[in-house]
Amino acid sequence: MALIDKDIYKAKSLLETGEVIGIPTETVYGLAGNAFNVQAVTKIFQTKNRPTFDPLIVHSSSLTKIAQFVQAIPPLAQKLATHFWPGPLTLLLQKKSNIPDLVTSGLETVAVRIPSHPLILDLLELLEFPLAAPSANPFGYISPTQAEHVQAQLGDKIPYILDGGPSHVGIESTIIGFEDITPIVYRLGGLSIEAIESVIGPVTLMPHSSSNPQAPGMLKSHYAPRKPLVLDSVDQVLKQYAPEKIGYMGFSDFRKDLPEKNQLVLSHTRNYAEAAQKLFAVMRTLDTYPHLEVIVAELLPEEDLGRAINDRIRRAAAQ
Ligand code: TXA
Ligand code: MG
Repeated sequence: MALIDKDIYKAKSLLETGEVIGIPTETVYGLAGNAFNVQAVTKIFQTKNRPTFDPLIVHSSSLTKIAQFVQAIPPLAQKLATHFWPGPLTLLLQKKSNIPDLVTSGLETVAVRIPSHPLILDLLELLEFPLAAPSANPFGYISPTQAEHVQAQLGDKIPYILDGGPSHVGIESTIIGFEDITPIVYRLGGLSIEAIESVIGPVTLMPHSSSNPQAPGMLKSHYAPRKPLVLDSVDQVLKQYAPEKIGYMGFSDFRKDLPEKNQLVLSHTRNYAEAAQKLFAVMRTLDTYPHLEVIVAELLPEEDLGRAINDRIRRAAAQ
């Protein structure tokens, strides 16, 4: 099993020898390695069982450091960076040749973000290279929001997990790229569209597709628990399963037609940020209840972080 601790110097020395380790971020935990080192990046793909056509996000601690591996930071990207970094926003920028093609799956752009978690920012400050880090889950499974989740899924494959406590945003970063100068949202995430549009005006949402060459990793089925997760009405599911076999993930309220012990809600006060923070842990918990055979998920209103939460729920349901 991996050692779980808070020692950034230990993390630094492992990363300098080409190891991959678990790291905390404010969105989800990452599986990190030296982004300039092809061996380390190869190890990331192998550890996660991730296909190499699915590119990685590169994490850094400052715009000065980022300028060492991207061609330019166009004005709109600069504006977004100023407003939202450090934070749950990833920008697609033209890469320099020091970023190995493996990191970007051969694309000309590299996904970059400055995460806002203090422990990972301190570590990034110490390092002379940026960290390539996908979410620290086996490919296709629910993303980890605590060190223990990483331990449970990848602990036998990595030496160390830097423990920063529970991720406070709880869902992955919002990804924005640019076509000429038009901003395009490639993945909904922890920074709401409303917040982005308040700074740069209207943005275009990229429809999700497993065959979209611009975003090869945005597969329809993702973030999935092992049990079937369905979006059908509870009435419909009750025709097929006994009530005691049905788990329920609701936004704010329990249902009367299912046992209360089978139910978890994301936010009793209908707070989107709290719902996002709890989403993956709740999915994970329901997935581990041995008496359940199916999980019914309730979609949230399509606004604010509700959109990104629904995106994750829909993908978890797309088996
Ligand atoms: O919040 C996050 O973004 C977390 C934490 C660890 O930073 N990371 C994360 O990484 O969610 P991952 O690998 O699970 O998701 C990265 C997504 C993938 O869907 C990938 O296809 C997309 O970013 N991506 C990476 N580089 C890209 C590029 N150059 N063009 C389009 N999409 C890209
Ligand atoms: Mg992921």
